[in-house]
Amino acid sequence: PENVRVYEFAEKVNRSVGEVIGVLFALGMMVTKNDFLSKDEIEILAEEFEVEVTTVNPLDELEIAEDHDAEEDEANLEERPPVITIMGHVDHGKTSLLDRIRTSKVADKEAGGITQHVGAYQVEKNGKKITFVDTPGHEAFTEMRSRGAQATDIVIIVVAADDGVMPQTKEAISHTKAAGVPLIVAINKMDKESANPDNVKAQLSEIGVMAADWGGEYEFVPVSAHTGMGIDDLLETILLQAEVMELKANPNRKAKAVVVESSLEKGFGPVANVIIKNGTLHVGDNVIVGKTYGRIKAIKLDDGSNAKEIGPSTPAAIVGLNEVPGAGDELIVMDTDKEVRELAEKRAEYDRAKALSKSTKASLDDLSALI
Ligand code: GTP
Ligand code: MG
Repeated sequence: PENVRVYEFAEKVNRSVGEVIGVLFALGMMVTKNDFLSKDEIEILAEEFEVEVTTVNPLDELEIAEDHDAEEDEANLEERPPVITIMGHVDHGKTSLLDRIRTSKVADKEAGGITQHVGAYQVEKNGKKITFVDTPGHEAFTEMRSRGAQATDIVIIVVAADDGVMPQTKEAISHTKAAGVPLIVAINKMDKESANPDNVKAQLSEIGVMAADWGGEYEFVPVSAHTGMGIDDLLETILLQAEVMELKANPNRKAKAVVVESSLEKGFGPVANVIIKNGTLHVGDNVIVGKTYGRIKAIKLDDGSNAKEIGPSTPAAIVGLNEVPGAGDELIVMDTDKEVRELAEKRAEYDRAKALSKSTKASLDDLSALI
């Protein structure tokens, strides 16, 4: 990454070497004409001079990227459960549907402590696991991006049969399509007198989502979260789609996960609800999650039980971080606590420098206004 010298950068952005050195000096970084710029320095300079630079994973150490994103040997890959994100308009029954799926499929253990807040659950059907992520209707777009997006394999669009296609239904569909994620439509509330599934099909066909039984390419499954009608069909449809996708991961490597949501919990401290994307996460692992870090103290599954380790596509709440990470942050396992701490500090430092570079610019502007 350190392959641009100060004078080369100055030439590229049409500035004098003095200006470049001056900007960094103002931030407490001493460089000379022939020094190589670090990624952080390049980012700060780009910000300052308002130029675009392409930096790949600017926050990550090169070794981490290599370690985690290395081409996986096919022989190490094993089948993993699909991760399903449930989306749709407010009140169309996303949470009810998920509740129904869980209560009929998950042995009802006493939910303890922090598990009520896990927005992700795993169920089993025909001996296959399926991971579900719930999203609130009113935040469909941002939620899709920040919570499930990075881990989502398939989206279920829930449409109430009595209400039909609504603004957030359309929004959810357009973002799912844009993300290139396959979608399945669940027409919910079929138990209602006023249910009109054909209307839902007609409305969706108008926006390019044609039902398979109407000659289109999308599976529509009529369901009722209240009576349980169609739930088995829905799960089977999901498993069929997942089979086609041949979802795989390598459970025998250091874990990589994504934060679905996070909070500060009494008695536990910072808690992050994550879904494992690859590898296996163990209690005792040193992790960095965005700008937070720590050693995994406990892994809590969606049924309230504790696990020692969890593999690909498993949702869980993890305890042991120094602070609350952000939704969408990536969890990476590293070998030592020193490594995660140092990288976390680097990321924090980078943020401070960026913020500082902004305020420096502002004060210079203020100054020229005064003159
Ligand atoms: P948000 O999270 O706010 O977007 O809503 P949601 O999509 O999760 O809907 P939720 O599951 O909270 O259900 C909204 C209302 O619809 C509740 O009053 C449910 O009881 C009702 N409802 C959900 N599913 C069904 C169903 O299959 N049949 C009937 N009759 N009512 C349902
Ligand atoms: Mg809900």
